[in-house]
Amino acid sequence: MSITADISTSAADATPTAAASGANATARFHTDKSPYAAARDTPQERVSLLAREVIEAVHDTIRRHQVTYDEYNALKAWMIQVGEDGEWPLFLDVWIEHVVEQVANASRVGSKGSIEGPYYAPGAPELGADGAVPMRDEEPGTQLVWQGTITSVDGQPLDGATLELWQADDNGYYSQFAPGIPQWNLRGTFTVGADGAFRIRTIRPAPYQIPTDGACGKLIAAAGWHAWRPAHLHVKVSAPGHLPLTAQLYFPGDPHNDDDIAAAVKPELMLEPVPQPDGTVQVDYGFVLDPA
Ligand code: DHB
Ligand code: FE
Repeated sequence: MSITADISTSAADATPTAAASGANATARFHTDKSPYAAARDTPQERVSLLAREVIEAVHDTIRRHQVTYDEYNALKAWMIQVGEDGEWPLFLDVWIEHVVEQVANASRVGSKGSIEGPYYAPGAPELGADGAVPMRDEEPGTQLVWQGTITSVDGQPLDGATLELWQADDNGYYSQFAPGIPQWNLRGTFTVGADGAFRIRTIRPAPYQIPTDGACGKLIAAAGWHAWRPAHLHVKVSAPGHLPLTAQLYFPGDPHNDDDIAAAVKPELMLEPVPQPDGTVQVDYGFVLDPA
């Protein structure tokens, strides 16, 4: 099943909605079999321990704050709505994933990782070691030229390492998850040679607001929070014999670097953009992978 054929690549209905973005994120998750294998293979003792502790943490909150039946029913209605809007991937990736990432990557000595979020799609076009990601004619936004190398922790370049890039456009929308954007827009796979070097041409992404018209947006509004993630580039970096790295890179000065709704910013992931006389922006940022 194509997750994009009907909704994302059609310009006919060009209004992005939380339900459509959520439905696409949910459909994308269904295409990946590994989570379902993980659900089947998690040992009973582990399921029992984790499920009991999470449920007891909820009980503790109810007792501590004297939660009422109205509040309980509001929660029930909201959780049903999250499912109906297809927003469970979004909810989990915004409010939970960053702690899982911290725990999973605590012992890495190479580059820092960050959350994957709901908008990765495997199979982005192969662009060699030096190329431009697919863009529309007159793609809006500041042009960005990004250079770097992929090495192992001992400094050796990793011949054949790949970097997958995905990002929001200048309006904060992701191809395949918002309508009317070509399938692989601002997505690409780069493969480095013996020198480990890559050079990527793209545009600077805009800050991104998680969909505000669905159940997650309702929670944010009801709690008086904001929905913003700072502008970011997503990457997955892989090389034979090394742990794959999922990360995000950020731009200094973004108003939401310090209060990212997804809590996924780290100082090590900050770019240092250098504006060029021709109006483009250049960044240097490379990756160091841990041996597997
Ligand atoms: C979400 C979106 C992102 O672009 C991201 O990086 C993390 C989370 C979200 O909407 O859940
Ligand atoms: Fe993102």
